[in-house]
Amino acid sequence: MPTYTSLQASDPAVYAALAGEMKRQKEGVELICSENYVSPAVLEIMGSVFNNKYSEGYPGKRYYGGQEFTDQVETLAIERAKQLFKAGHANVQPHAGAPANIATYFALLEPGDTVMGMDLSHGGHLTHGHPVTYITKIFKFVRYKMKDVESGEIDYEEMLEVAKKERPKIILAGFSAYPRELNYAKIKAVAKEVGALAVADMAHIAGLIAGGAARNPFDDDFDVILTTTHKTLRGPRGGMIMTKDPELGKKIDKMVFPGYQGGPIMQMVAAKAVAFGEALKPEFSDYAHQIVKNCKHMAQFFMDRGAKLVTNGTDNHLMLIDCVKSWNLAGKEVEQLFDRVNITLNKNMIADDPRKAMDPSGVRLGTAAITTRGMKEKEMDVLAQFMLRAIEKRNDEKALISLRGEVKEFCLQFPVPGIA
Ligand SMILES: Cc1ncc(COP(=O)(O)O)c(C=O)c1O
Repeated sequence: MPTYTSLQASDPAVYAALAGEMKRQKEGVELICSENYVSPAVLEIMGSVFNNKYSEGYPGKRYYGGQEFTDQVETLAIERAKQLFKAGHANVQPHAGAPANIATYFALLEPGDTVMGMDLSHGGHLTHGHPVTYITKIFKFVRYKMKDVESGEIDYEEMLEVAKKERPKIILAGFSAYPRELNYAKIKAVAKEVGALAVADMAHIAGLIAGGAARNPFDDDFDVILTTTHKTLRGPRGGMIMTKDPELGKKIDKMVFPGYQGGPIMQMVAAKAVAFGEALKPEFSDYAHQIVKNCKHMAQFFMDRGAKLVTNGTDNHLMLIDCVKSWNLAGKEVEQLFDRVNITLNKNMIADDPRKAMDPSGVRLGTAAITTRGMKEKEMDVLAQFMLRAIEKRNDEKALISLRGEVKEFCLQFPVPGIA
C-alpha cells in the first residue's frame, strides 16, 4: 500500500481532502450502484510510475521506445480480459466508459447512421443517445423500451418493428438503471434480421458476467461488448472494448488509437491487468453471486414492508425504488435524508417518471460496494432497517443524529480495502 506521508508534507490542503474522503468511505454506507472499492493491489499500481510513460500504439507496435514493461502489462490486461469474457480480441485502452462507447460508434458507423438503444427513461444511459450529448449530432438514435414496467420485460416485438422501419446499424443492449436481465438472444435475432451489429454496453454488470452471475452476451453471439472496468468489475476507472471478430477488432483498434484517443493511461492499463487477474480467481465468482443475493434480499425486505420497486424486484446488483409511491417522498428528499445518516445513494428517474430529472420520483441503489466490504444477507436487513428508520424519524433531529452514530459503528466493523 502506498503511504501518503510525502503528500501530507508537500500538500497539506490536498492531503486534508484525501483524509476526509477516506474517513467518509470508512464511516458511511456506499449504495451508489456504479461504485465499488478496489483492492490495495489495484490502488498501488494506479499510483505507480507507469504514469510516466507514453505508449501510443499497441504492444509490439509503439511510436516511442522504452516499452518493454508497458508491453508486458498491456498484454497481460488483454489476455486476462479475453479469458474473463470469452472474447477473441480486447482493446484495453479506452479511458472510460463514455470514450469506449464513442470509439465503438466511430469504428462501426458512418455519420448519419442509426443506433437503436434502450429508452433513457426506462434505464438506458446518457452515452446511448441522450439529447444533451454531442454524439446525437452525428448519429441518429431510436429506442426500445419495456412492454410491461411491472415485470420489466422488454417489448421485443416493437423492437423488431422499429428496427425494420429505422434500419439501425447497431442495436445496443445496455443500461444504467434497469434491474432485470436482457434477453440477448432475442436482441441478436432482431439485429440479424435487419443487418445490424449487436453491441452490448455491459458497464454496470461486467463484474456479474465475469463472475458468472449474469449472462455473457457473447454466448448469444453478440458482435461487440464494451464496458467500464470500474463498477461491479472492481477495477480502475477505465473502459474496454471486446469482440470475437478479428476484422471488427482491427477497426476498433484503429479507432481507439489513433482515430479517437491519444496515448493510453498506462497506470490504468496496468491496473486493469491486476483487477482482471483478481476477477479470474474463484473468490470473485463468489463475490459476484453474493452481490446479486444481497440485492435480491434487500429488495424483498423493502417490498415486504410496502415499498414499490420498479419491475417489482431485481435480477442484478441494483434496484429502483419509487419513493413517491412507497413513502410519499421525492427521490431528492430521500437522497438528502440518507446523506444525513451516512448512507449514500442517488435520486433517479423511474420508468415513465411524471417528475423531472433533477427532481425525480425514485432512488437507485446497489450492493456491489457493500458486498466488497463483506456484508451478507444479515447485514442487508440491518441496512434496510436503518433506511426505513431514517424515513420514519425524518422530522426528529435527535433520532437522526443517534442513527448516524449507529450507522458509523456498524460500518467500522466492515473495513474498506485499502484504507487502514
Ligand atoms: C451503461 C453505461 N455506459 C457508459 C457509462 C459511462 O462510463 P464513464 O463514466 O466511465 O465514462 C456508464 C456510467 O455510468 C454506464 O452506466
